[in-house]
Amino acid sequence: MKACTDMKRILVLGATSGIGKALVEQLRALGYEVIAAGRRKALLDALGGETLELDVTAPDAVEKAAATGADTVLFNAGFGERTPMPDANRTDRALQVNILAFERFARWALTTCTCFAATASIAGIRGLEDTNGYSASKAYMINAMEGYRRKARHGKHPCRYVTLMPGFVDTAMGQASTFWRCSPEVAAKVIIRGLLRRKAVVYVTPRWRLIALLLRALPRALFERIPIC
Ligand SMILES: NC(=O)c1ccc[n+]([C@@H]2O[C@H](COP(=O)([O-])OP(=O)(O)OC[C@H]3O[C@@H](n4cnc5c(N)ncnc54)[C@H](OP(=O)(O)O)[C@@H]3O)[C@@H](O)[C@H]2O)c1
Repeated sequence: MKACTDMKRILVLGATSGIGKALVEQLRALGYEVIAAGRRKALLDALGGETLELDVTAPDAVEKAAATGADTVLFNAGFGERTPMPDANRTDRALQVNILAFERFARWALTTCTCFAATASIAGIRGLEDTNGYSASKAYMINAMEGYRRKARHGKHPCRYVTLMPGFVDTAMGQASTFWRCSPEVAAKVIIRGLLRRKAVVYVTPRWRLIALLLRALPRALFERIPIC
């Protein structure tokens, strides 16, 4: 794959497991300078290379990230758990990580970074009964990324914003279904290809774009009749 000139020093937030870990390994194999960030120190140590112990919800998280000198940030940290009944603690955690922390990083990136990618989700396209806080938080992310993309374009800011849209990926978070599920390694490969091709939105894997189109097109009355658990 051809290297991207606006991505030299890449900070991966949420790099200790799953998609983030695979992204770190593959980007390093391609020769990029990568800083792997997350909270679980033992997993960061096992990854090796340049690491940053970081909770993205910490008040000084953006400051610490800025100190790495990264020009590209992949906001892949995320929280979401399926619950049969709405759960205040889980919803609060999803909002803290997927909205508040994400928003602080996305805003900072506008005038600082050359590339900012965020892992949203196909689950963010419509409201879902068992992952309500999670899907609502990813809906925020999808719209905010579009807004920042427009801001960067019309305000002539150098940062390109890339929305990553996984369906199901075989990680701790992706156990709900095996439907069109891919491995974290395949997910990382698709994401990196999308970044290098300078796509604005990357479906993981590409055929999930069909599900996205279908979800967007379904009339409310019909969508609400279909149970999705
Ligand atoms: N798997 C799927 O099917 C799927 C589908 C759609 C979207 N996604 C999204 O993909 C992203 C990666 O998830 P995954 O599937 O790879 O699951 P995962 O293995 O559980 O990875 C989640 C990552 O987020 C990090 N994280 C969570 N809270 C954090 C915090 N407060 N500060 C810093 N890092 C934090 C975790 O690191 P530490 O715990 O070490 O901090 C971990 O590295 C998430 O944003 C998720 O919503 C996943």
